[in-house]
Amino acid sequence: MMMMMMMMMVSMQLLLLQSLVCLSAAKQTGEQSAPPSSASCQAWLLQSIPTDMPELPAVPGVLRTGDVLQWLAGNSSKSLDIMSYYWQLLALPKNPASGDYGYSQQQLDQFGVGQAVYDSLIAAADRGVPIRIVQDTGFSPDFASESAAIAAGRPNVQNRTLYVSDWWGGGVLHAKLWISNKKHAYVGSANNDWKSLTQVKELGIYFTDCPA
Ligand SMILES: *[C@@H]1O[C@H](CO)[C@@H](O)[C@H](O)[C@H]1NC(C)=O
Ligand SMILES: *[C@@H]1O[C@H](CO)[C@@H](O)[C@H](O)[C@H]1NC(C)=O
Repeated sequence: MMMMMMMMMVSMQLLLLQSLVCLSAAKQTGEQSAPPSSASCQAWLLQSIPTDMPELPAVPGVLRTGDVLQWLAGNSSKSLDIMSYYWQLLALPKNPASGDYGYSQQQLDQFGVGQAVYDSLIAAADRGVPIRIVQDTGFSPDFASESAAIAAGRPNVQNRTLYVSDWWGGGVLHAKLWISNKKHAYVGSANNDWKSLTQVKELGIYFTDCPA
């Protein structure tokens, strides 16, 4: 638990640092010392809001996590790097061991964009984009089978599991991070899980044109 808190704090600090870098890059626009390529760096707030709760409407003007993840995959040409706690973009309504068991296809269609995000990753992988995935071990019943399916038969996709406890005695890789072409990124609370896109409240930031 302690370890998890520490890792969350580290990822929050990274997030803050990244926003500060972006802000200061934006402030320096026009000054000669600023690298010209950083001037375009921008950040947008993202949200996921449960779709079937009318009393909890989406905040107008805030982008949706599920859209932005598809844009990141869709715009990737040189690289796509993903850190993921676990994978569950596709629901498992037929698997009795899954929390999704028993949902009808109609309900799942209504729930979500998980399939669309998964498809955008497959499309990027099929375009030959070098994709690097670092993940935690995943959960029952299917653990890291989605990332394995994306990697299967595609040498441009590398999938690795980080066994955090082997290195630090405990904890998990809890980060949720996508970096496209080393300059556009998502960082936030939403996991690569269909529920994190349309069933859970989540907050994130979308960075564009922020070169490494
Ligand atoms: C690329 O990203 C922009 C927003 O940053 C989005 O409007 C566009 O649809 C994305 N393109 C693809 C192919 O996903
Ligand atoms: C990576 O994907 C391959 C191909 O599907 C799979 O055999 C392997 O188990 C996966 N590795 C990890 C760490 O998930």
